[in-house]
Amino acid sequence: MPRHVLLIGFMGSGKSTVGRLVGESLGMPFLDLDAQVVATGGRTIEEIFAAQGESGFRAVESAALEALSGSDHAVIACGGGVVLDDANRSLLKRLGTVVYLQVSAEEALARIGDTSGRPLLAGGGVAMASALLRSREALYEATADVTVSTAGRTPREVADSVVTAVGCRS
Ligand code: S3P
Repeated sequence: MPRHVLLIGFMGSGKSTVGRLVGESLGMPFLDLDAQVVATGGRTIEEIFAAQGESGFRAVESAALEALSGSDHAVIACGGGVVLDDANRSLLKRLGTVVYLQVSAEEALARIGDTSGRPLLAGGGVAMASALLRSREALYEATADVTVSTAGRTPREVADSVVTAVGCRS
């Protein structure tokens, strides 16, 4: 099994931005699970949610994660809901080092700005985002090998912490 670096965490935690920087630092390719979902599904995430609902989206997401299992080692930014599925959580743990990027609901919303591309946040406010984050926190923590706080930190600072943490584990 390849040793990937897998970034998990809530929407707006900076998984893609940080993941690119971590990939550059470690000399590893960067892959984005949401981008794979869009490529596999042939539609945007909003379109998949609209046509197939969240469960349809989750099925494509799980298939995309499985498809990445066989790829050469990479830094992979996962969608925020990837941890909801038991099989995904087991697979993530087998695939490599799982890093949880922690963010508050307030900071996540501030970073995302326009939530129209995130069907689970669109139209809701901080209360909705907080409730969703709270419902997932234990899953992020249980799946992660390493937790890195992003509070008030730049992507570069977070990426450096991730590289250090991953280096300590290999
Ligand atoms: C989701 C997170 C999104 C995307 C989809 C569902 C979630 O990815 O997969 O909108 O359930 O948290 P990001 O975490 O990359 O925004």
